[in-house]
Order: sequence, then structure tokens, then C-alpha cells
Amino acid sequence: MTAIVSTMPRAALLLLLACAALELDALQTPPAISAGARRRPRAAPCMAAGDVVLDVNGLQANVDDVPILKGVNLCVRKGEVHAIMGPNGSGKSTFSKTLVGHYAYKVTGGTASYLDQDLLALDPEERAQRGIFMSFQYPVEVPGVTNADFLRVALNEKRLAMGQDEVSPLEFFALISRKLKQIGMKADFLNRNVNEGFSGGEKKRNEILQMVLLEPQLAILDELDSGLDIDALKEIAEGVNNFKSKDTAIIMITHYQRLLDYIKPDFVHIMSNGRIIKTGDASLALELEAQGYGWVTEPEQVTQ
Ligand SMILES: Nc1ncnc2c1ncn2[C@@H]1O[C@H](COP(=O)(O)OP(=O)(O)OP(=O)(O)O)[C@@H](O)[C@H]1O
Ligand SMILES: [Mg+2]
Repeated sequence: MTAIVSTMPRAALLLLLACAALELDALQTPPAISAGARRRPRAAPCMAAGDVVLDVNGLQANVDDVPILKGVNLCVRKGEVHAIMGPNGSGKSTFSKTLVGHYAYKVTGGTASYLDQDLLALDPEERAQRGIFMSFQYPVEVPGVTNADFLRVALNEKRLAMGQDEVSPLEFFALISRKLKQIGMKADFLNRNVNEGFSGGEKKRNEILQMVLLEPQLAILDELDSGLDIDALKEIAEGVNNFKSKDTAIIMITHYQRLLDYIKPDFVHIMSNGRIIKTGDASLALELEAQGYGWVTEPEQVTQ
């Protein structure tokens, strides 16, 4: 399989990587933030410069000509963890897939910038190469490609795009062995096809393995906690917490306060009907746990 991957035409390889960033659908079908700034609720586009990783302003997107995102505003800075919660079908996964450039989601309005570049002008693979990573709510299996080959190709594509040398197979195995230990994953998983036959929890762990290997600057984690037993949740949360730094930003989509006990968010946002309608600190998730979504109705205009 190594041979197959290494002899793939570059375009096919890029397709493979883009598909990895896009839930692999096409393979199946066609300076630290001050404490004060952290505490202030913020769901608006960034009103002040400095440390901005992602600035989303009035983002609208359609699926099959049906409007799903109806004006999302979000400002994410280095070092921050943002949790997005909200009822089923409110647009959380659509928002994250739109950010990584999934072909099924057509942007119809608004802007999004990533590290001061126009995110929407970048191809999906460029977004991945420039440091955006998404772990999917439903990780997809890739028959015929081993995890080891997949990860090494993904890493080397990213390194080449950043002007760095490729890692050799030996260097790769030293590196991946460290990463496996870091998230408590057995080496056996390297020789298995990507996600094929993995349990729900193993797939989620595999997503985090990809994240810690690729070291993104912006990680978007869609329902990382779904399907995890309580010990796995703690271990994976530890992996995410080890990955966190003053230079990285994390957006976590979740339905449950429980995950936020392990990975502390700086901001909690509520998405409803394609927009972020309320932003608060970690206590907002506790209120949701206690009261559900019924009390949150009116859109809130929060500026920074
Ligand atoms: N590819 C698609 N084709 C058709 N409809 C879609 C597609 N993607 C999203 N939708 C629709 O867009 C709406 C928002 O879906 P999305 O998956 O973003 O919700 P969500 O907030 O992530 O929900 P959940 O909490 O259940 O994961 C839903 O009504 C969904 O059916
Ligand atoms: Mg979803």
C-alpha cells in the first residue's frame, strides 16, 4: 500500500487529502489572551485586531439550494477554546464543513478570514495545508489505505506546502509512535485501513491522532464525545488538552456539558436555525444542561 500511495499522481493524492478534510465523501460518492478578554462573551466578528485566527462575519450557506447558515458571526483568537452547542439540525456541522470547504455547502453570503487571509478563496486542501483541521461527527472509512500510509502522506503534504522537508518512513514511525503514546492508542491501528472496522470510540481516537500529528492552528472538533465511554472521553480530552497551546485555537461542537468538564471552554455559543444566537462563558453550558434550549429564543447582538 505504501507503494500505491507513493506512486499516486499528485492530483490523486491531493484529492485523497481533500477527501480526508471533507469526510472522504468523494471516495464513497462522487500572544496569550488576557483573562479579561477571555471572560467577555463574544459571538461577533472581530472588532479589534490582534491574535485573530478566525473571523466569520454574516456567513450564509446553502445545501442543495436550501439556506442552512443564515448569518453566522464568530471571532476566534489564538489560545482560545470555543464550544458551539445547539439543537439537532441547527447548523453546527454545516458551519464546520463550510469552514473546511466541503463541496456540498455553497457559501451565499458573508465573509470568513483565517489568519488574515480570505478563507473562502482557498481550496479545501489549501485550508488543510495552512493548518485547519476538522474531526468529523461521523468519521468515514477508507478501504484499501492503511492508517500509517494515510497519516504519513497527509503529514508530508502539509510539510511540503509549508516549505519543509518530507519525513522519511523511519522518522515518521518514530514520530507517530510518540503521538500514539500521547493519546493512548495501540500501534496495531497503524496497519489497519483508515477507520475500517474501528469501533465508534476508536474512530474518534483516530481523529485525535490525526490532529496531534498534523498540529493544526485551528482544530474544529465535531461531537468528539459521541460514542466514547467515560475512560476514553477522559483520555481523549487529555490528548486535546496536551495539544492546546497559546498559538492554537479550538472550536468544539458538543451536546453535552460533560465534555466541557474535561476541556474547559473560554466561550460557549448557542447555534439555532443557522445563527449563533447567544454567547457566554462556561456557565452557559451548565444553564443549558439544567434548562434545555427553550429559554434561549431571541438573537443577541454581542460586540467586542
Ligand atoms: N448534505 C446535506 N444534504 C441535505 N441536507 C443537509 C445536508 N447537510 C445538512 N443538511 C441539513 O441542514 C440542517 C443542519 O444540519 P447540521 O448537520 O448542520 O445540524 P447539526 O446542528 O450539526 O445537528 P446535530 O446536532 O444533529 O449534529 C439539517 O436540517 C440537515 O438535514
Ligand atoms: Mg452535527
